[in-house]
Amino acid sequence: MMARVEHTREGRWGGRLTQKPLPERDETIEALAPELRTKLAGIWLSRAAMERRVADSFGVVAQALARRSPDKALVRLAERAVDDEYRHAELSRVVASRFAGRPLPSPALLALVVPEHRGASPELRDTLHVVGQCVLNETTATAFLETCLAHATGGLARHALRELLSDEVDHGRVGWAYLATTSADTRRQLGRWLLPMAYLNLRLWQEESPVAPEHHPALSAHGAPPGEVIHAALVDALETLIVPGLRALEVPVGPLERWIAAGAFTDRPPAELVD
Ligand SMILES: [Fe+2]
Ligand SMILES: [Fe+2]
Repeated sequence: MMARVEHTREGRWGGRLTQKPLPERDETIEALAPELRTKLAGIWLSRAAMERRVADSFGVVAQALARRSPDKALVRLAERAVDDEYRHAELSRVVASRFAGRPLPSPALLALVVPEHRGASPELRDTLHVVGQCVLNETTATAFLETCLAHATGGLARHALRELLSDEVDHGRVGWAYLATTSADTRRQLGRWLLPMAYLNLRLWQEESPVAPEHHPALSAHGAPPGEVIHAALVDALETLIVPGLRALEVPVGPLERWIAAGAFTDRPPAELVD
């Protein structure tokens, strides 16, 4: 089966997969036990599937920004982000293949469920789609990748994580920059939507990095630190990046702060969501 390669020459690196070529050899991979190589191949391949789904999500974001953003440069950045996410999917597949020791086919497509945000006006819904993907999900992705990088020692993993991280930082900025152009009224209206969005976003990330009873240090070395380490970093990003950023833009963050203060639990919906 042919690997699907959907990024284009119009993208960030003129059709190349990465800014700098990936290391051709990584002896630390060759030294791994076969079962660890298989496990890491699976982890990186599941990341490829998620990156590919984010490409679809950025298609929604680019359309929303084309309708609402006075700044056309932001629309172009969102369009480029679609291409970036295709590259991320392919990069993750290539890394997975290096762990597997053979070319792996692209994983099955994950269906994107676009949040309905029922009850929001079309204008507000567009803003919610930008905030959900860029401000929440990409800022969370940045914290995730920073944590993976901080624990990684393997040459290939570190290279791939750095490439992914620099793009995700950019994708988060698209959302923050757009939010700063919205009216004070729109930003006030965002308040009541934030807690359910942040709760669902964190729950999804935690599901994708489950806490395992045992964690082999080699997984951390190659880009997959323990679930509990990742979870703590994601909650920290909510508390120290996302909430202060929203507060600075005068978005009401009270319910979000109360949920974080209660431990940012994801095993049950926050009480404020249960009518
Ligand atoms: Fe990505
Ligand atoms: Fe991204």
